[in-house]
Amino acid sequence: MASKLGLLFGILVIAFVMQFQTVIVIAQPQVPCYFIFGGSLVDNGNNNRLVTTQKANYLPYGIDFPQGATGRFTNGRTIADLIGQRLGFPEFIPPYATATDREISTGVNYGSGGAGIRLETGRNLGDRISLDRQLLNHATIVSRLKLLQGNITFTNEYINKCIYLVNIGTNDYVNNYLMPQSYLTGRIYNPDQYAAILTQQYSQQLTTLYNLGARKVVVFGLGPIGCTPAQIARVGTNGRPCVESINNITMLFNNRLRPLVDDLNNNLRDARFTFVNVSGIAANRLVLPNVPCCQIQSNGLCVPNSIPCPNRTSTAWYDGFHPSEISNSRLAARAYIARSPLDVSPNDISTLARL
Ligand SMILES: *[C@@H]1O[C@H](CO)[C@@H](O)[C@H](O)[C@H]1NC(C)=O
Ligand SMILES: *[C@@H]1O[C@H](CO)[C@@H](O)[C@H](O)[C@H]1NC(C)=O
Ligand SMILES: *[C@@H]1O[C@H](CO)[C@@H](O)[C@H](O)[C@H]1NC(C)=O
Ligand SMILES: *[C@@H]1O[C@H](CO)[C@@H](O)[C@H](O)[C@H]1NC(C)=O
Repeated sequence: MASKLGLLFGILVIAFVMQFQTVIVIAQPQVPCYFIFGGSLVDNGNNNRLVTTQKANYLPYGIDFPQGATGRFTNGRTIADLIGQRLGFPEFIPPYATATDREISTGVNYGSGGAGIRLETGRNLGDRISLDRQLLNHATIVSRLKLLQGNITFTNEYINKCIYLVNIGTNDYVNNYLMPQSYLTGRIYNPDQYAAILTQQYSQQLTTLYNLGARKVVVFGLGPIGCTPAQIARVGTNGRPCVESINNITMLFNNRLRPLVDDLNNNLRDARFTFVNVSGIAANRLVLPNVPCCQIQSNGLCVPNSIPCPNRTSTAWYDGFHPSEISNSRLAARAYIARSPLDVSPNDISTLARL
């Protein structure tokens, strides 16, 4: 009897240990490092100490996030957090603002709410770290890694293996082109010309990222900006679910981004850029209403310390501009493993990680 129990206990321990080992194997990241660039869709605290109205380090932001309100512009995890988890990173990538020497070898998040491809983008909100400055910050981090590692060849090979996520451009519309009272761009360029100059500048910035050692680069297209509660409230929809004229304008940029990714792959040796069709994925997933979950202020952000909707998987948006975690999760799922070649191309992120 005693020996039977002992045997059963032994089997249970082995089963437990095997399960535990499986967990450890899953927790091993697919790539050694992960760097993140962009605006408020990926910011995880870089704006907290900047002088800007574009901050989210207060409740009800972060209400479903383990560490609470960190500066993430959603109730839970951002798209960058969710992709990081799918890649197997056991911890969230730290913000540039607080990253320590010990942390930087697995990656850094440079994202800043209000930031754009263009330097002036977001100045109506206050300070922000533009994509050009994010790239300068990355150059500093790369130098730092080389110094800490003490072997430049090794570090160069190492940073070639990382995944780089770039999610920017929304503010170049929302906090620039679509505000003709504050910015000249809307008066100088027609929508197609604006998409062209934005793409041209972005192409140079992505080439700079490549020159800093990036090879596996995930470029996010713009989401359905005309479906955000803030734009719906501002412009009206004539009974349609979204502001079509805005989606048509931003689609011009998305349509240029996909061929840009092909150009970069053809012209830069060993480059593996890939395009995530955010609008396309949003359009054919299970539809949630285009209303915010939190109570919003006139600037579209949540009212500090207000009580958000009880069911945070019931709305597409958390505030006037930013998707709720459920929308981010659905996007992450299809960006990681595409359901159609139109979702993400030429490689979905799970394939890119293995290349
Ligand atoms: C530096 O790294 C390269 C590539 O990993 C390796 O071949 C070389 O031996 C290293 N050099 C030193 C001095 O450790
Ligand atoms: C948006 O584009 C679609 C497809 O090209 C077109 O049918 C529609 O009229 C456009 N809507 C607006 C408001 O510009
Ligand atoms: C994005 O996906 C939609 C719907 O699947 C598709 O119609 C559109 O052509 C795609 N856009 C790009 C730039 O690939
Ligand atoms: C929350 O909302 C989603 C989407 O409408 C629904 O499927 C789910 O059942 C709701 N959950 C609760 C607890 O009401």
